[in-house]
Amino acid sequence: MQGDIQRVLIDEGVISRRVSRMAEEVQADFPEGPLLVIVLLKGAMVFASDLLRRIARPLEIECLNVASYHGATESCGRVDFLDRTFPRVAGRSVLLLDDILDTGRTLHAVAARLRDEGAKEVRTGVLLAKDKAREADVRATYVGFEVGDEFVVGYGLDFRGRYRNLPFVGVLKPEVVERAGPP
Ligand code: XMP
Repeated sequence: MQGDIQRVLIDEGVISRRVSRMAEEVQADFPEGPLLVIVLLKGAMVFASDLLRRIARPLEIECLNVASYHGATESCGRVDFLDRTFPRVAGRSVLLLDDILDTGRTLHAVAARLRDEGAKEVRTGVLLAKDKAREADVRATYVGFEVGDEFVVGYGLDFRGRYRNLPFVGVLKPEVVERAGPP
């Protein structure tokens, strides 16, 4: 698996230190009272599990399945909510976590839905933000790292369902993507 990686962008130790710092930022910012954290599956699960274990205050965790990528390495433009139910967020302070901010459509669509459902306050956290113009008007409250506009894997992020368990964020060798063929 590691042999498929062309280069490591952010190593494990650097991620760990930054995630600890982000946990401190979240703790300092949110008002007292139970926090509701919504984790976007599957990409944010590794980031969320590290971040949330460093937050020493009461919180509840919900997960949402949304699809915006459908196996390609470019966003397809539509955000689908895949769950049959939606968490009860009315009146709650919500922290929405995703792996990466790319076009911005996913975070924008989910944050809008949370507000429609009556969330009192919505903040957003992403491990990575691509350095590019967003297609949706959204900015993450907490950003771990800015990365270039290239496809990345590891620490929760996948290509065709693989590489999520890499402990670092890296870039695949082009031949790995080519070999995989069309989605
Ligand atoms: P948008 O474009 O809505 O994208 O901001 C957010 C979702 O797209 C996926 N995504 C990626 N997944 N490597 C990945 O493995 C990437 O470089 C990448 N860029 C976007 C991801 O699921 C994210 O939640």
